[in-house]
Amino acid sequence: MTERPYVIDQMISAKSIAARIEALSHEIEREFADTDKVVVVGILRGSFVFIADLVRELDLAIEVDFIEVSSYGNAMQSSGEVRILKDLRGGIEGRDVLVVEDIVDTGFTMHNVVAHLLTRGPSKLKTIALLDKPSRREVEFKSDWTGFEIPDEFVVGYGIDYAQRNRNLGYIGKVRFV
Ligand code: IMP
Ligand code: MG
Repeated sequence: MTERPYVIDQMISAKSIAARIEALSHEIEREFADTDKVVVVGILRGSFVFIADLVRELDLAIEVDFIEVSSYGNAMQSSGEVRILKDLRGGIEGRDVLVVEDIVDTGFTMHNVVAHLLTRGPSKLKTIALLDKPSRREVEFKSDWTGFEIPDEFVVGYGIDYAQRNRNLGYIGKVRFV
């Protein structure tokens, strides 16, 4: 694919991300303190760096699983509809689930994934997103925990891509076309 040239301006440093994850991990530990049946579910692919750092801060007995979905992402589709590209390997019935996402934008992905996972009967389902762009919301969704609220900018890094590139940046940057 041909791309317009762009530069990446740092928006959130690696250090700020690490500090925020450390703080959030204590809240998550409190939420799941009384159970040893937690499954942390990462939504591929954008969450892979975030989930890796997050779980290493969690002093809990957890399992890790992944799901890959493509959301239709427009209001013409019924809510709760989600196409599963790669399903969880394990069951979540009767388990406590923490869903980990990179960015909540329109809200369709998380709205749909949560609706889908709830049909499988988890005993608890909580959500965390590293980033949230509340001004972009098209369907109601509020994550239980959010790393950072950001303005309506296209961001990359820390697992998040632009045309599959830049996932390996250690920080979050915004794409600026030049
Ligand atoms: P939603 O379904 O509109 O909430 O979209 C969420 C998904 O869109 C995220 O998981 C990302 O994969 C993608 N996305 C949203 N905003 C950005 C961005 O600024 N950069 C890269 N991907 C994004
Ligand atoms: Mg994503």
